[in-house]
Amino acid sequence: MSRITFSVPRTYSTHYDIYAVGYDENRFKPENLKHIDPKKQVRSEAEASLTDFKATIGETSVHFSNLESSIATRSMLVGLGNTSKLNSTSLRQALTACFTAALKVKARSLFLQLNLSRFINVSISAYEFGRLVAETASMVNYEINHQKTEIGGYKPSVRLEKIDVCISTFDDIQALESGLTDGALIGEAVNLAKDLINAPADDMTPKALAFQARAIAKSSNNSLKVKVHGPKALERMKAGCILAVAKAGLKEERPVEPPALIELNYKPANAKPGVKLSLVGKSITFDSGGLDIKGTANMRDMKGDMAGGAAELAAMQVIAALKLPITVQALLPATPNLIGSRATKPGAVVYSMSGRSVEIDNTDAEGRLTLADGITFAKKNGATHIVDIATLTGAVFYALGPNTAGLFSNDKSLSDLVDESSKAAGEQLWLLPSGGEFNEANKTPIADIKNSGGGYGAGASTAASFVLLFAEDTPTVHLDIAGVSMKQMQATGFGVRTLIEVARQLSQTTK
Ligand code: BES
Ligand code: ZN
Ligand code: ZN
Repeated sequence: MSRITFSVPRTYSTHYDIYAVGYDENRFKPENLKHIDPKKQVRSEAEASLTDFKATIGETSVHFSNLESSIATRSMLVGLGNTSKLNSTSLRQALTACFTAALKVKARSLFLQLNLSRFINVSISAYEFGRLVAETASMVNYEINHQKTEIGGYKPSVRLEKIDVCISTFDDIQALESGLTDGALIGEAVNLAKDLINAPADDMTPKALAFQARAIAKSSNNSLKVKVHGPKALERMKAGCILAVAKAGLKEERPVEPPALIELNYKPANAKPGVKLSLVGKSITFDSGGLDIKGTANMRDMKGDMAGGAAELAAMQVIAALKLPITVQALLPATPNLIGSRATKPGAVVYSMSGRSVEIDNTDAEGRLTLADGITFAKKNGATHIVDIATLTGAVFYALGPNTAGLFSNDKSLSDLVDESSKAAGEQLWLLPSGGEFNEANKTPIADIKNSGGGYGAGASTAASFVLLFAEDTPTVHLDIAGVSMKQMQATGFGVRTLIEVARQLSQTTK
């Protein structure tokens, strides 16, 4: 994975491939353009206005520099729209467009001068600006972890290597620099999550996930600690739900892909007292549906059914690197959901770690089973706040589409905190209902609960209600990311940034 070097240079001795300058849309209004003497107009501006560039948010216009003395081969105009209305969402959009356009012309080095300090009323801090720059650039720079070979015709693509931010962008250069550092950490973590999700399911088994957790802990200067509970330990813990999903992958003589409950702990010395945030991430390393097997099209993306777990691992890496003052435990109940002669049959009744009996009405509703035991484990380990994140239901896609994840909660204040965090992080969540009538839909005559709402409808809400039942009265937020975690069969890394921000905000609030 290629990393970008970000800096705020004090002198400009280097030459860049591209020089990006920000523009307020006012400059390109016809009534303003007509006052400019064409002879005095910067050539790139003149060219841009000829191509109808209006400097709206997300618009870019790339030109060759006309002067030999220019600091860059190309220059880019970056639309900032009405700068007095610029906020982190629109700035993120402008930056994403800027870096995407730079990559399109194969730029390796970029000089960024958005001139924000020139525009009055811009309500973005130097830190926030730096963070957005490094975060979006790192994310745009992502290249899927493919297995293309040179012999097959693959040529390494050009990626951004160096981004320098103009020193006059903000007065507080230190804040700008620390924003750049943190933004790069966050962007790289999103890319790590994408790599884990994009890896083929045979490569990203529970064992491989545990290996990744250990690698993250190793590079955290010992601030993260890993424990892995294998099949025997899961039996001792009476994790009947996880074991039911794991059954087909767990042949006694020669386990094919045995389950693992992976635990990653972060407990800094200055942790906020009385608070333990538990993150529980759905970590189904491949979801075939089990005996209620999926159809071809629906199975194709199911290597990504551990996207919740991947998001947590990546978030933990950043939480530790930022040294956030809060205790966090990440839990990944990891297992594939496979078929085979030992696979759990529909109609099976199992006992969850909480002691509740569960009828497995549908083996394809496996995520909520693993989350149930994961959440019980979190509670037994003293969680005061739980956030679970899961590619849980196809239904959430029909409810909210490809860009918004579903938020469900049993606690208004945690739900508000997560909602605010997602906004600050640039990810979209929408509160959906749970409990009440949806609990009724999960009832069955033969066990305490069943793992599907049957024909009730509102599949995302019945699934959420199942999960939240196991949280009991521990403040919990459930995020259903099934609709947003993959696009065109590629991971989006959704959730990483929200989880980091949740840990940050929870470490600060007095609640
Ligand atoms: N992993 C799937 C949900 C999913 C669907 C994730 C599409 C990503 C993209 C989950 O385990 C599942 O199969 N859910 C079923 C539940 C049903 C059987 C009650 C679903 O949503 O159809
Ligand atoms: Zn499933
Ligand atoms: Zn699944």
